Amino acid sequence: MHDDLEKILFTHEQIHQRIAEVAAAISRDYEGRELMLVAVLKGAVFFLTHLAEALTVPAQIDFLGIASFSPGRVLPGVVRISKDLDLDILDKEVLVIEDIVDTGLTLRYLLNILSGRQPRSLAVCTFLDKPTRRLVEIPVRYSCFEVPDRFVVGFGLDYNQQYRTLPCVGILRSHIYQGK
Ligand code: IMP
Repeated sequence: MHDDLEKILFTHEQIHQRIAEVAAAISRDYEGRELMLVAVLKGAVFFLTHLAEALTVPAQIDFLGIASFSPGRVLPGVVRISKDLDLDILDKEVLVIEDIVDTGLTLRYLLNILSGRQPRSLAVCTFLDKPTRRLVEIPVRYSCFEVPDRFVVGFGLDYNQQYRTLPCVGILRSHIYQGK
Protein backbone atom coordinates (compact mmCIF):
# COMPACT_ATOMS: atom_id res chain seq x y z
CA MET A 1 0.00 0.00 0.00
CA HIS A 2 2.87 2.38 0.81
CA ASP A 3 4.07 2.03 -2.79
CA ASP A 4 0.89 3.79 -3.96
CA LEU A 5 1.87 6.92 -2.04
CA GLU A 6 3.75 9.67 -3.81
CA LYS A 7 4.82 11.15 -0.49
CA ILE A 8 4.22 10.57 3.21
CA LEU A 9 2.94 13.77 4.80
CA PHE A 10 2.59 12.66 8.43
CA THR A 11 4.01 9.59 10.12
CA HIS A 12 2.15 7.65 12.81
CA GLU A 13 4.37 9.23 15.47
CA GLN A 14 3.68 12.76 14.22
CA ILE A 15 -0.04 12.01 14.10
CA HIS A 16 -0.01 10.68 17.67
CA GLN A 17 1.87 13.67 18.95
CA ARG A 18 -0.40 16.19 17.23
CA ILE A 19 -3.59 14.45 18.35
CA ALA A 20 -2.31 14.56 21.94
CA GLU A 21 -1.81 18.34 21.59
CA VAL A 22 -5.29 18.86 20.18
CA ALA A 23 -6.81 16.60 22.87
CA ALA A 24 -5.08 18.70 25.53
CA ALA A 25 -6.51 21.92 24.04
CA ILE A 26 -10.02 20.42 23.92
CA SER A 27 -9.69 19.14 27.50
CA ARG A 28 -8.68 22.61 28.69
CA ASP A 29 -11.52 24.32 26.80
CA TYR A 30 -14.20 21.90 28.02
CA GLU A 31 -12.94 21.47 31.59
CA GLY A 32 -15.82 20.76 33.98
CA ARG A 33 -18.16 19.83 31.13
CA GLU A 34 -19.10 16.57 29.43
CA LEU A 35 -18.55 16.26 25.70
CA MET A 36 -20.59 14.47 23.07
CA LEU A 37 -18.26 13.45 20.25
CA VAL A 38 -20.13 12.97 16.97
CA ALA A 39 -17.90 11.21 14.45
CA VAL A 40 -18.66 11.08 10.75
CA LEU A 41 -18.35 7.54 9.36
CA LYS A 42 -16.15 6.00 8.22
CA GLY A 43 -13.15 8.26 7.76
CA ALA A 44 -13.16 9.87 11.20
CA VAL A 45 -13.13 6.62 13.19
CA PHE A 46 -9.34 6.30 13.54
CA PHE A 47 -9.07 9.94 14.57
CA LEU A 48 -11.99 9.65 17.01
CA THR A 49 -10.53 6.69 18.91
CA HIS A 50 -7.07 8.22 19.27
CA LEU A 51 -8.48 11.61 20.24
CA ALA A 52 -11.03 10.21 22.70
CA GLU A 53 -8.47 8.17 24.63
CA ALA A 54 -6.27 11.26 25.02
CA LEU A 55 -9.05 13.48 26.43
CA THR A 56 -9.14 14.17 30.15
CA VAL A 57 -12.77 15.33 30.14
CA PRO A 58 -15.61 12.77 30.07
CA ALA A 59 -17.05 12.15 26.61
CA GLN A 60 -19.89 10.18 25.08
CA ILE A 61 -19.51 9.08 21.47
CA ASP A 62 -21.95 8.63 18.62
CA PHE A 63 -21.75 8.23 14.84
CA LEU A 64 -23.31 9.80 11.77
CA GLY A 65 -23.25 8.06 8.41
CA ILE A 66 -23.18 10.12 5.24
CA ALA A 67 -24.07 8.91 1.75
CA SER A 68 -23.13 10.89 -1.30
CA PHE A 69 -25.78 11.36 -3.98
CA SER A 70 -23.00 11.93 -6.42
CA PRO A 71 -20.82 8.93 -7.31
CA GLY A 72 -17.34 10.15 -8.13
CA ARG A 73 -18.11 13.33 -6.19
CA VAL A 74 -18.96 15.27 -9.33
CA LEU A 75 -21.28 17.38 -7.22
CA PRO A 76 -19.53 17.86 -3.90
CA GLY A 77 -21.75 18.37 -0.89
CA VAL A 78 -24.80 16.64 -2.32
CA VAL A 79 -25.18 14.26 0.58
CA ARG A 80 -27.76 12.75 2.90
CA ILE A 81 -27.67 11.07 6.30
CA SER A 82 -27.48 7.28 5.85
CA LYS A 83 -27.12 6.52 9.58
CA ASP A 84 -28.50 8.93 12.12
CA LEU A 85 -27.31 9.45 15.69
CA ASP A 86 -28.51 7.00 18.33
CA LEU A 87 -28.31 9.61 21.08
CA ASP A 88 -30.24 12.83 21.65
CA ILE A 89 -27.98 15.90 21.46
CA LEU A 90 -30.45 18.35 23.02
CA ASP A 91 -28.54 20.54 25.50
CA LYS A 92 -25.26 18.60 24.91
CA GLU A 93 -21.78 20.00 24.26
CA VAL A 94 -21.37 18.55 20.77
CA LEU A 95 -18.03 18.30 19.00
CA VAL A 96 -18.26 17.04 15.42
CA ILE A 97 -15.26 14.87 14.53
CA GLU A 98 -14.37 14.89 10.81
CA ASP A 99 -11.59 13.26 8.83
CA ILE A 100 -11.04 16.15 6.40
CA VAL A 101 -12.72 19.45 5.55
CA ASP A 102 -12.40 20.01 1.83
CA THR A 103 -15.04 22.23 0.16
CA GLY A 104 -16.89 22.42 3.49
CA LEU A 105 -20.23 21.54 1.89
CA THR A 106 -20.67 18.26 3.77
CA LEU A 107 -20.09 19.93 7.11
CA ARG A 108 -22.36 22.84 6.29
CA TYR A 109 -25.16 20.36 5.66
CA LEU A 110 -24.41 18.42 8.86
CA LEU A 111 -24.05 21.50 11.04
CA ASN A 112 -27.42 22.80 9.81
CA ILE A 113 -29.11 19.55 10.80
CA LEU A 114 -27.33 19.25 14.15
CA SER A 115 -27.91 22.86 15.19
CA GLY A 116 -31.65 22.32 14.61
CA ARG A 117 -31.56 19.71 17.39
CA GLN A 118 -30.57 22.43 19.86
CA PRO A 119 -27.31 21.25 21.40
CA ARG A 120 -25.93 23.50 24.17
CA SER A 121 -22.87 24.06 21.97
CA LEU A 122 -21.71 22.86 18.57
CA ALA A 123 -18.13 22.93 17.31
CA VAL A 124 -15.96 21.17 14.73
CA CYS A 125 -12.74 19.22 15.20
CA THR A 126 -11.12 17.91 12.03
CA PHE A 127 -8.11 15.70 11.55
CA LEU A 128 -7.11 17.32 8.24
CA ASP A 129 -7.98 20.64 6.67
CA LYS A 130 -7.62 21.54 2.97
CA PRO A 131 -8.36 25.27 3.24
CA THR A 132 -7.49 26.13 -0.37
CA ARG A 133 -10.47 24.07 -1.59
CA ARG A 134 -13.09 25.72 0.62
CA LEU A 135 -16.31 26.82 -1.10
CA VAL A 136 -18.25 27.72 2.06
CA GLU A 137 -16.99 29.11 5.33
CA ILE A 138 -16.97 26.55 8.14
CA PRO A 139 -16.15 27.37 11.77
CA VAL A 140 -13.36 24.81 12.34
CA ARG A 141 -12.37 25.16 16.00
CA TYR A 142 -9.74 22.39 16.12
CA SER A 143 -7.60 21.03 13.30
CA CYS A 144 -4.61 18.69 13.51
CA PHE A 145 -2.96 19.35 10.14
CA GLU A 146 -3.39 21.44 7.01
CA VAL A 147 -2.85 19.54 3.75
CA PRO A 148 -2.22 20.77 0.19
CA ASP A 149 -4.78 20.50 -2.59
CA ARG A 150 -3.92 16.86 -3.34
CA PHE A 151 -5.80 13.61 -2.72
CA VAL A 152 -4.62 12.19 0.60
CA VAL A 153 -5.24 8.77 2.16
CA GLY A 154 -4.45 6.86 5.33
CA PHE A 155 -5.37 6.97 9.03
CA GLY A 156 -9.05 6.54 8.11
CA LEU A 157 -9.10 8.39 4.79
CA ASP A 158 -9.83 6.23 1.78
CA TYR A 159 -9.83 6.07 -1.95
CA ASN A 160 -12.55 3.64 -3.11
CA GLN A 161 -12.63 2.13 0.43
CA GLN A 162 -8.90 1.36 0.28
CA TYR A 163 -5.92 2.73 2.22
CA ARG A 164 -7.92 3.54 5.40
CA THR A 165 -5.75 1.19 7.44
CA LEU A 166 -2.45 2.89 6.56
CA PRO A 167 -0.94 4.12 9.84
CA CYS A 168 0.37 7.31 8.17
CA VAL A 169 -1.15 10.00 5.90
CA GLY A 170 0.21 10.40 2.40
CA ILE A 171 -0.50 11.79 -1.05
CA LEU A 172 -1.93 9.15 -3.37
CA ARG A 173 -0.09 8.78 -6.69
CA SER A 174 -2.12 10.61 -9.32
CA HIS A 175 -2.21 7.69 -11.79
CA ILE A 176 -4.29 5.83 -9.14
CA TYR A 177 -6.57 8.74 -8.47
CA GLN A 178 -7.45 10.78 -11.54
CA GLY A 179 -9.95 13.50 -11.06
CA LYS A 180 -9.80 15.80 -8.05
P1 IMP B 1 -16.35 18.38 1.52
O1 IMP B 1 -17.83 18.33 1.60
O2 IMP B 1 -15.87 18.79 0.16
O3 IMP B 1 -15.70 19.19 2.62
O4 IMP B 1 -15.85 16.88 1.62
C1 IMP B 1 -15.56 16.25 2.78
C2 IMP B 1 -15.42 14.76 2.51
O5 IMP B 1 -14.81 14.48 1.23
C3 IMP B 1 -14.51 14.17 3.54
O6 IMP B 1 -15.22 13.78 4.69
C4 IMP B 1 -13.90 12.98 2.79
O7 IMP B 1 -14.74 11.86 2.89
C5 IMP B 1 -13.87 13.42 1.34
N1 IMP B 1 -12.54 13.92 0.94
C6 IMP B 1 -12.22 15.18 0.57
N2 IMP B 1 -10.92 15.27 0.27
C7 IMP B 1 -10.39 14.04 0.46
C8 IMP B 1 -9.04 13.50 0.31
O8 IMP B 1 -8.05 14.18 -0.04
N3 IMP B 1 -8.91 12.18 0.61
C9 IMP B 1 -9.95 11.39 1.02
N4 IMP B 1 -11.20 11.86 1.16
C10 IMP B 1 -11.42 13.18 0.87
